Amino acid sequence: MTPTPLLQIDGLHVAFGARDRWREVVRGVDLRLLPSEVVGLVGESGSGKSLTALSIMRLLPPGARITSGRITFAGTDLATLSSRAINARRGSDIGMIFQDPLTALNPAIPVGRQIVDSLRTHQEVGRKAAWARAVELLDLVGIHRPAERAHAYAHELSGGMRQRVMTALAVCNDPKLLIADEPTTALDVTVQAQVIAMLDRIRRELGIAVLFISHNLELVAGIVDRVSVMYAGRVVESGAVEEVFDTPQHPYTRQLLRCIPRLDGKTGPMPTIPGLPPRLGGAMPGCAFAPRCQVVQQRCPLETPPTRRKDGHLSVCWEAPA
Ligand SMILES: Nc1ncnc2c1ncn2[C@@H]1O[C@H](COP(=O)(O)OP(=O)(O)OP(=O)(O)O)[C@@H](O)[C@H]1O
Ligand SMILES: [Mg+2]
Repeated sequence: MTPTPLLQIDGLHVAFGARDRWREVVRGVDLRLLPSEVVGLVGESGSGKSLTALSIMRLLPPGARITSGRITFAGTDLATLSSRAINARRGSDIGMIFQDPLTALNPAIPVGRQIVDSLRTHQEVGRKAAWARAVELLDLVGIHRPAERAHAYAHELSGGMRQRVMTALAVCNDPKLLIADEPTTALDVTVQAQVIAMLDRIRRELGIAVLFISHNLELVAGIVDRVSVMYAGRVVESGAVEEVFDTPQHPYTRQLLRCIPRLDGKTGPMPTIPGLPPRLGGAMPGCAFAPRCQVVQQRCPLETPPTRRKDGHLSVCWEAPA
């Protein structure tokens, strides 16, 4: 028997604009996370990763709306919840960390107090106990001298430290799911690796599921169980991370893997995928990747490609699975 998913997204469509002039930017995304599972969502800039994540939290930017699809979290259809109920879940059942911690941290309140406030908003806990817990959490995310650092303001901390504080804040109310949207993009490579190692450790210690969003497939590969690759608002490939890495099925994934920046310090020209992602909006009957695809067939720009499955490995392409 397959376990019940913690998060299940079916056919999610997100669009910008008004009724007669919709610009669809998420175009039928399906995504599943089991409890304690770590799933990567990867793809180039503009592919719809953040809007997918923000839909879960109902934090879409003004002008954007979910036009169809279902998002079920721990058995509840999130669309049926009131804004108030969603607010209560945010920061308790679901925690989120972003690329830029400064947007999430309050500049005027010491970081320890921010954790205390979040704890006391969602749980019945005294001030002293909450402070002790905040210090414990700062220690958990790898902040040295946490009792001292708890008094610091966000601007007094380095980028990597802020990302750790935001993680402590995101997990302080024992969420079942942590959404990490490009949490290391703004950091230098060494600090990136440290933050990834920290996220991996705390998710193991806390047993939480993580949706890890990045444009860098190699970066997520070390910590995710499964990965979904997005292109132009759609998931074009998904599967166990080793399978997607070792035997990528979709031409986009194959080209993406060739463009991975080298982490070994060697320099050299970095290959890029020729061409640009499509401007979303108009009708796109066929495969959106067709104009940039190296193995394009005549029917690709015209007909919707089929979803091919081999065990749990899925690829949306006319090309037969390898
Ligand atoms: N506030 C906005 N107003 C108008 N269009 C937007 C807005 N935010 C996003 N979009 C459009 O939606 C598309 C998907 O955006 P999204 O932020 O989900 O991409 P992403 O995959 O997270 O990219 P990145 O890697 O750059 O973060 C973009 O191509 C962009 O055109
Ligand atoms: Mg994004």
